Amino acid sequence: MSSNTMLHYRAADETDIDKLIPLGVLAYGQYRPFMSEDEWQTMLHSLQSREMYIGLLGTGKGFVCMSEEKIIGMAFLIYHGNPWSFYPAEWSYVRMVGADPCYKGAGVGRQLMQLCINEAIGSGEQVIALHTSEQMHAARHIYESLGFTVEQELPVKYGMKYWLYKMPLQ
Ligand SMILES: CC(C)(COP(=O)(O)OP(=O)(O)OC[C@H]1O[C@@H](n2cnc3c(N)ncnc32)[C@H](O)[C@@H]1OP(=O)(O)O)[C@@H](O)C(=O)NCCC(=O)NCCS
Repeated sequence: MSSNTMLHYRAADETDIDKLIPLGVLAYGQYRPFMSEDEWQTMLHSLQSREMYIGLLGTGKGFVCMSEEKIIGMAFLIYHGNPWSFYPAEWSYVRMVGADPCYKGAGVGRQLMQLCINEAIGSGEQVIALHTSEQMHAARHIYESLGFTVEQELPVKYGMKYWLYKMPLQ
């Protein structure tokens, strides 16, 4: 895939899940101060779900960023044909983009997103989408600079405003 002197990227598989779970809690835990305790517990429950990661890997392709042997970033492209929540069956979409905050600003999130977009293009997807919230400033900056635009505002979740973003690929 791609590499620089410190970081490299590879496809994820189910043997990574034990490391992806704490990474997700660490990355999304940055939003805990913006949530009530109940909202955080609901988010935490879903972040700790092994079944969620099995589902992501079963319906799409996951990518991880490695710093030596440590997984420090992840993102999953879900192929079309897997309608979920506000995503219609015709769309591919990205889920669970997260990076270890210790590596903030090193380009990990951007590169993982680019790998998802490349995978979508390479698999002939027509559309790629994702959802993100008002507190996810770095994420929104990355998505908008890659060409995603807001499709619609979504219902408030975890006490935060969310948007559905979309980008045509063909
Ligand atoms: C989103 C996330 C994966 C980004 O990871 P990262 O490796 O730090 O991101 P990168 O280094 O690739 O890029 C960060 C970009 O955001 C910009 N940025 C950082 N903080 C920002 C802010 N508060 N407002 C606007 N832009 C910001 C940086 O300048 C950089 O821009 P550039 O690529 O044009 O130079 C990481 O912050 C994360 O895990 N967040 C928590 C989980 C999350 O929000 N996931 C997305 C859910 S939709």
